[in-house]
Amino acid sequence: MDLKGKVAIVTGVSKGIGLETVKSLLSEGMTVVGWGRTAPNLTDSDFHFIKTDVSDWENVQASYNETVNQFGKASVLINNAGLGYTGLLHEMPIEEWQTMFNTNVNGVYHGAKVAIPGMIELEEGHIVNIASIAGITGIENMAGYCGTKFAVRGISHALFKEVRNYGIKVSCIYPGSTNTNFFDEIEGYNANENMMRPEDVASSIIHVLKTHPNYHIVDVEMRPLWPKGRPNK
Ligand SMILES: NC(=O)c1ccc[n+]([C@@H]2O[C@H](COP(=O)([O-])OP(=O)(O)OC[C@H]3O[C@@H](n4cnc5c(N)ncnc54)[C@H](OP(=O)(O)O)[C@@H]3O)[C@@H](O)[C@H]2O)c1
Repeated sequence: MDLKGKVAIVTGVSKGIGLETVKSLLSEGMTVVGWGRTAPNLTDSDFHFIKTDVSDWENVQASYNETVNQFGKASVLINNAGLGYTGLLHEMPIEEWQTMFNTNVNGVYHGAKVAIPGMIELEEGHIVNIASIAGITGIENMAGYCGTKFAVRGISHALFKEVRNYGIKVSCIYPGSTNTNFFDEIEGYNANENMMRPEDVASSIIHVLKTHPNYHIVDVEMRPLWPKGRPNK
């Protein structure tokens, strides 16, 4: 898709992968509307923030209407907002389990549901869902988080077959450990320099978006080459 001058929605834009993706989309000449709970520290005449909790369907509908009224229908939706809690499944508080599913799974559903009719009218669109390596393999102490990201993978694979004939692509991204604030509240994990840089994940998202209309990248898995540091250095 030619991105210049078109509207992109990115969810979860205060920091991390979402914020780097916003910056990359702005460099491509897009109008970017960020939906999130917290505004980023970013000033750009083509960036607009709308306070949104992606787990709240009515809130997402209101944000979409505001987006369309002010900037027009979105050609691109990056479903990035997400969070993780760790712990043994039988010990995890119900609230943490529900918050993860409400955000990581329902958030993707809400975004796609609200944006697809406009993309059908535009006769083009691209939804990029940020899953995780945790959507490809089970990880001990992360049963709930893995469940949400396996769900994002399944939704993405089914959805692309539903909307492909409208000219809409759905791609799913599976980052390994990325150096963001994601780990701040996660016991036993600390973000560090051996993790991937969020701007590199963002650059892959741009590559996925800029492909020929008849070329659909379905899945992208990325990992740090040296997750424990470069050997012999
Ligand atoms: N970092 C990794 O290693 C890694 C690896 C694989 C996949 N991922 C995925 O990548 C995505 C981005 O994570 P990140 O690493 O960039 O983490 P991050 O730095 O913690 O950023 C997460 C973003 O999501 C927002 N958010 C959380 N719940 C929300 C809600 N209900 N409504 C709207 N926004 C909400 C946060 O807003 P607030 O500032 O208000 O909290 C924040 O802007 C997530 O889906 C995550 O699961 C991360």
